[in-house]
Amino acid sequence: MWRSIHKEFPAGPAEGLKRWSLGPLNNNPLEYFAKIAREYGDVAGLRVLNFRTIFLNHPDLIEEVLVTNARKYSKGRVLRANRHVFGEGLLTSEGDFWLRQRRLAQPAFHRTRIASYAATMVEYTQRMLHDWRGGQERDVHQEMMRLTLQIVGKTLFDADVERDAQEVGKSLELLLEIGANFRRTIFVPHWLPTATNLRVKKEIAQIDKILYRIIGERRASGRDAGDLLSMLLHAQDEDGSRMADRQLRDEAITLFLAGHETTASTLSWTWWLLAQNPAVEAKLHAELDAVLGDRAPSLDDLPKLAYTGHIVTESLRLYPPAWGMARLAVEDHEIAGYAVRKGMGVAMAQWVVHRDPRWYDAPEEFRPERWEDDLLKRLPRFAYFPFGGGPRQCIGNVFALMEAVLVLATIARKFRLRLAANHPVVPLASITLRPRHGVRATLESRQKKEAAPSNVRQAAVAD
Ligand code: HEM
Repeated sequence: MWRSIHKEFPAGPAEGLKRWSLGPLNNNPLEYFAKIAREYGDVAGLRVLNFRTIFLNHPDLIEEVLVTNARKYSKGRVLRANRHVFGEGLLTSEGDFWLRQRRLAQPAFHRTRIASYAATMVEYTQRMLHDWRGGQERDVHQEMMRLTLQIVGKTLFDADVERDAQEVGKSLELLLEIGANFRRTIFVPHWLPTATNLRVKKEIAQIDKILYRIIGERRASGRDAGDLLSMLLHAQDEDGSRMADRQLRDEAITLFLAGHETTASTLSWTWWLLAQNPAVEAKLHAELDAVLGDRAPSLDDLPKLAYTGHIVTESLRLYPPAWGMARLAVEDHEIAGYAVRKGMGVAMAQWVVHRDPRWYDAPEEFRPERWEDDLLKRLPRFAYFPFGGGPRQCIGNVFALMEAVLVLATIARKFRLRLAANHPVVPLASITLRPRHGVRATLESRQKKEAAPSNVRQAAVAD
């Protein structure tokens, strides 16, 4: 059966397989997967050295793997190879252990709980804006990274990571960058004392120091802050045992990593798209002016900021931070008539499916309006899956969407961003999809009339 997939490759199997080696995967994986989809359609077989992987490009087939037959798959090789960073945190753990941890963490992401994070998200954004002045040039991606890190730290761990943000941010960024080298991650064991591995070790130790400090302080105080950390600290097994510091650390580093860079990249791509689409930007400003007037946004405003929401949805379509996903078969399975043997990989790329003309008109265009009239309900479920799906769906999806809309609204109310000339913004498909050299932009103040007191609602966050 495997051979029959390979018949679809251009030359004889051996040559074809050589051509589709990790080389192109590392250099330009976005183009690589788009090309495979163009040339081979909804199912293609790849072999990289000894690893066999089936690439799926149809929403229904993706659903079969992520939802219908989720039990037959574990996480893919890249995530598994990053276990020395994430430990047994939510993103990388498996089976009953994962399920127990997921159930423990879930309440912290419940809609009502997340609602209480809204004020923090706006407050931290406003704090950042205190230093912003019209005419300044900034790396907006760096700004968004710092901001989202602080928001995750405060909301989930009640920790003011501002003083540590730069240190943690740098270490996390380095880990992501190194982890993004698929070839290295998979083929170089992390215990080998190479220069890069030693660097990774050092950065992990740096982050651990901070995380263990946060955990230790909370444990010592016995305080129940009602946040995720308290929930995990107080959770008990049936035998009465509590979660060890090591496990708490694994969950914490996972959430810091999974929860800040993704949302920061979403915002960075959104600013970049807005700066190039003045008509969309004008519509955004009109909505913000009409809904908010001269005050900062609050949770209550979210249903009224529909266009702002569509902008985020569309940005996640075109530049999904989780640009591709992988699984490893733990049992034999058959997909679309192809045998997926135990040990084989399955790959799926949001980057490709989200730009498929079968699901989207003018797929390369940034058109937030396409999401009006409930497009989402009319699409096959996995034609749009920025947060994955099935049991391993992103636990932070509601958190992330709320954060992106509130941060975008808080900033766009005050500033528009003009892209710096001669600073190319290029996608880097590392573990996440982010702007390779950041997004440099000049801040332009949207000076407006002074606050109209009658507009200021009680629920609004003080501006
Ligand atoms: C735009 C922002 C985000 C995107 C695009 C995103 C995307 C994803 C995707 C695609 C997965 C599934 C990975 C897989 O199945 O292999 C995932 C899992 C996860 N995400 Fe997110 N995420 C975002 C924000 C967040 C936030 C804000 C948090 C937490 C504060 C978070 C925490 C997690 C965790 C813990 C998992 C693992 C869940 C599990 O396996 O039980 N993510 N994310």
